[in-house]
Amino acid sequence: MKINIITLFPEFFDNFKKESIIGRAIESQKIEINIINLRDFCYDKHKQADDMAFGGGPGMVMKLEPIFNALETVTGKVIYPSPQGPVFTQKLALDLSIEKEITILCGHYEGIDERVIEEKVDLEISIGDYVLTGGEIPAMVMCDVIARMVPGVIKKESYENDSFFDGLLDHPHYTRPSDFKGLKIPEVLISGHHKNIDNWRLEQSLKRTMERRPELLENREFTKEEKKIMEKLEKKLLNQN
Ligand code: ADE
Repeated sequence: MKINIITLFPEFFDNFKKESIIGRAIESQKIEINIINLRDFCYDKHKQADDMAFGGGPGMVMKLEPIFNALETVTGKVIYPSPQGPVFTQKLALDLSIEKEITILCGHYEGIDERVIEEKVDLEISIGDYVLTGGEIPAMVMCDVIARMVPGVIKKESYENDSFFDGLLDHPHYTRPSDFKGLKIPEVLISGHHKNIDNWRLEQSLKRTMERRPELLENREFTKEEKKIMEKLEKKLLNQN
């Protein structure tokens, strides 16, 4: 998969491209992250990428010509990170992870000329209800979430068990030692009984989701097993009150 990132600050991505899972995915050619310097597409004398807003007001607006020019060099869906979009989700990332090529367009200042969004942007997406200084960090977030689900980047089982993948928060994890100064791990995890371990993990996921993010369960179609566990958890909760 090829991910193009159009930015005025290409150096932002230097480490991002080198480190850890993303670094290895690039090295093994599972993904390509192509950083496009928007400045290279500013053809006027001063290489100006922004200008004052029509109608006045503080802040500058990113000009449309350089962005149109840069977009001529790419194909596939164009994503514009912005607080105005719907919030990014694991489901959307999974859908995007099977695309051949996508482009993330990083905005700055007050934003970009609206005509770019109307004419060229397929998806305007927010990473949460807060405002960042620019689109580079959201671009990294999106890139990271999408790239790890590109086939071959990490094991499918790894991300299928993640929080949100199946609409639930993740269960707790433990590693050695099993007893650290009296801090013990749940017995079931060293029982060797895989069915009981799976059940315990599902129960923990449901319990955490119920306690921390109950809205995630609102429209869930529970499996038989999940229904049983939910009844047990609700009974426990009733007994506590
Ligand atoms: N740019 C600035 N704030 C943003 C946000 N919350 N999400 C995506 N892009 C942004």
